[in-house]
Amino acid sequence: MDPKLAAAKAALKYVESGYVVGVGSGSTALVFLNELAEAIKGGLISNVRLVATSTETEYEIVRLGLGELLRYPWQVNGITVAVDGADEVDEGKNLVKGGGGALTREKIIDYWADEFIVIVDESKLVDKVPSRHPIPIEVVPYAWPMVKAKLEKEYGGSAELRYSSSKRGPVVTDNCNYVIDYRPSLRIEPSEGERIIKGIPGVVEVGLFNGLKVSRVIVGKSDGSVYEFK
Ligand code: 5RP
Repeated sequence: MDPKLAAAKAALKYVESGYVVGVGSGSTALVFLNELAEAIKGGLISNVRLVATSTETEYEIVRLGLGELLRYPWQVNGITVAVDGADEVDEGKNLVKGGGGALTREKIIDYWADEFIVIVDESKLVDKVPSRHPIPIEVVPYAWPMVKAKLEKEYGGSAELRYSSSKRGPVVTDNCNYVIDYRPSLRIEPSEGERIIKGIPGVVEVGLFNGLKVSRVIVGKSDGSVYEFK
């Protein structure tokens, strides 16, 4: 079984009828959404409401025929459980997210959830976050040169404006902002990095997610088995 599917199926066990479900973004989260859609259509789960973490996920919810269950964040009083993917996870459950540029709404919904479940395949596991992936940072468009300069002065390395491969010019997020991908040369501790980078004027959100906000990580393996850590 595909490791993403194995993790998605395991996450579905934490979703019950009546829940408000935060639905993550990216390929792994969309595998989970497909499983959830099947469970709803099959009558195994009922009376749920779905809060999407991106436009992509909103479209998928509608495409799967679940549009009536879709709610904006202001239409619910809370999120019972959020299920989302990640670009990197370490043993402290710290994450790098934002490979798909959806980090701001993801963090709002995921941090708001009573239970935040991360689903990944083994390729996402690293010793220490941030590691292989750059840190995505959503910025107000006209502020990007200043944020880039500040990051490079503070932590060294390089901060690059993310360009689109399918449109000319920079990637524009769901919130009409830009994304900087930052590779520091100095070691950044995730929770301190989250706090400091978020504090730079012009930064909307940073794709470092604090492990203390994550309830559990479900890892799908290539043999179809899964394991969890909390
Ligand atoms: C999007 C994200 C995704 O969760 C992350 O990029 C993982 O995606 P995938 O499951 O496709 O590897 O943070 O902004």
